[in-house]
Amino acid sequence: MTALNTALEIDLTGQGTAESLGGRFCGGVGGEAEFIRGAAASPGGRSILALPSTRDGGSASRIVPRLGPGASATFHRCDVRYVVTEYGIADLRGKSVRDRAMSLIGISHPNFRSWLVEEAKRLSLVYQDQVYHPALYREDLEAWRTTRTGLSIFLRPVRISDEPLLKEFFYSLSDKSLYRRFASARKDMPHSRIQEFVTVDLSRDVVILGLVFRDGREHLIGFAQYSRNERDRLAELAVVVRDDYQRQGVGTLLHSYMTDLARKSGIAGFTAEVLEDNLPALRLIEKMGFEAVEAEGGAKEMRLIFDN
Ligand SMILES: CC(C)(COP(=O)(O)OP(=O)(O)OC[C@H]1O[C@@H](n2cnc3c(N)ncnc32)[C@H](O)[C@@H]1OP(=O)(O)O)[C@@H](O)C(=O)NCCC(=O)NCCS
Repeated sequence: MTALNTALEIDLTGQGTAESLGGRFCGGVGGEAEFIRGAAASPGGRSILALPSTRDGGSASRIVPRLGPGASATFHRCDVRYVVTEYGIADLRGKSVRDRAMSLIGISHPNFRSWLVEEAKRLSLVYQDQVYHPALYREDLEAWRTTRTGLSIFLRPVRISDEPLLKEFFYSLSDKSLYRRFASARKDMPHSRIQEFVTVDLSRDVVILGLVFRDGREHLIGFAQYSRNERDRLAELAVVVRDDYQRQGVGTLLHSYMTDLARKSGIAGFTAEVLEDNLPALRLIEKMGFEAVEAEGGAKEMRLIFDN
């Protein structure tokens, strides 16, 4: 059963109203809550709430820190699954309050996002050091690709709400892969470290996630990042693939995709720093055309200049 409904306002925890704005009633008690609950209870069911991100000609956000005083709570946060605005889809099922807030901020109108982040901090719904970057999500960078082994992967830019995906990914990596990616023995991945990947400045950095869909949800199997260096029009590239998906062509695919994006945005080439004993990475990037330019302290500086 799929229940498709709307809401007048929804708060950052996912509960909302379809009856009133604050104490001002716009409708009576209807069947919305039953439909949402029925869909949630039915095997394979989905409940979808679709609403515009703003109201009153764009002057107010429909995603709000808290419902206004006197608002009628039409639906409960634990029953709502998908919330859709013109800025995307937030899947709230099974999420903590913090992740719900970040997912909903991620689909709110961009004019209200920094306000929502500040309010969420004030209400202690998100981390106090939560960073927010105003760059818009780039749908044009989304793509489906298939590896040489026939694995179908969805590639998309990182979103501000992807911290749980990245956390799960980092903690699933072997110590060896983690060490090779960061050249550091540090194994913990606290919020302060992970948020650097999800709040990137898209004018300089690009982070592309490689995802597969299983059990009705996204699984992160690898990601690539480049960071533009303004001095020489080169960008530093780093790629990492989950251990159980390595050697299936995912690294090659991420690499080629990043090369396409970099070329299109006027970058002249890539650099990469790889540990001298990291044979898989050295082989991969040599295959992609990189050459060693320097070796120092157990690491090799590799470089690829794109031809015209
Ligand atoms: C390096 C890494 C990204 C490669 O990803 P991957 O998905 O396994 O790569 P692919 O399957 O596309 O393999 C591409 C090529 O890399 C080389 N390669 C990959 N794994 C290898 C291994 N274990 N031993 C030797 N060569 C290997 C091969 O030349 C391979 O081509 P081939 O299969 O045609 O022989 C992955 O091993 C990884 O995430 N390592 C940890 C993080 C890291 O080292 N990142 C690079 C530094 S930033």
